[in-house]
Amino acid sequence: MIRKCLFPVAGYGTRFLPATKSMPKEMLPIVNKPLVHYGVDEAVEANLNYIGFVTGRGKRAIADYFDISYELEDQIAGTGKETLLQGIRYLINNVKFSFTRQNNMLGLGHAILSGETLIGQEAFAVVLADDLCLHPEGKGILAQMVTLYQRYHCSIIAVQEVDNTEIERYGVIAGIPLHDDLYKVTDMIEKPSPENAPSHLAIIGRYILTPDIFEIIKHTQPGKNGEVQLTDALRSQAQNACVMAYKFKGIRFDCGSIDGFIDATNYCYRHFYQQGEQC
Ligand code: G1P
Repeated sequence: MIRKCLFPVAGYGTRFLPATKSMPKEMLPIVNKPLVHYGVDEAVEANLNYIGFVTGRGKRAIADYFDISYELEDQIAGTGKETLLQGIRYLINNVKFSFTRQNNMLGLGHAILSGETLIGQEAFAVVLADDLCLHPEGKGILAQMVTLYQRYHCSIIAVQEVDNTEIERYGVIAGIPLHDDLYKVTDMIEKPSPENAPSHLAIIGRYILTPDIFEIIKHTQPGKNGEVQLTDALRSQAQNACVMAYKFKGIRFDCGSIDGFIDATNYCYRHFYQQGEQC
């Protein structure tokens, strides 16, 4: 059973400067809800009720957000505005949040390793909050992946087809198709040039990892951009054990880019806010 979900949130968010100068990029709102809140909702929908954050300097707003705000709540008690806090209140009352720090930005692999103390020796999920995943029908993306884990008991990564022009922004897999949009991964390359990309299946920021990944990361040398890459650790896991890639059902916005962020905002505004629904 998977209970825990790790959120690496130490990154600077330089593409959103100056907004992210004194505010975490994960707190930027899509309409009226911070990006990270969407990710936590998705994890909780998948019954992952232990949420761990790997934070860094300047990220205190995230810890404050997932905590009670006595003064504010007292002020709006008994007014119509109380309903706006229902979603976050539910999370505060039902989810365990823990935090650890990544002191140096040495890559996604290093961020995951920094979260080892929050996870221990059990399989866990990872959400990169920049990737906003929505599911107009059926189960959320993480819930879909948890179901697959229960069947295969190995690491699972979410993938999506992307164009040649975008391939350099992603980790890319090579895999043997199995069934139901599932592949057995044979190779993975972090941010390849289009000529070197082994396929068009790009890794999206949703993972389920078996705990042996921590030992593998410890032995993974810095790769692309001199950083310890999770993709490299997963390649080694795929070649020595088993990693599956899953073409998920749903839509995904790259909210780490301005274009994706605006698309997500427009989508949520039209599909939720204008319909009188909470985002
Ligand atoms: C990270 C991963 C990459 C993955 C991407 C998905 O890259 O290293 O493999 O494709 O997330 O968003 P980043 O976007 O942090 O550079």
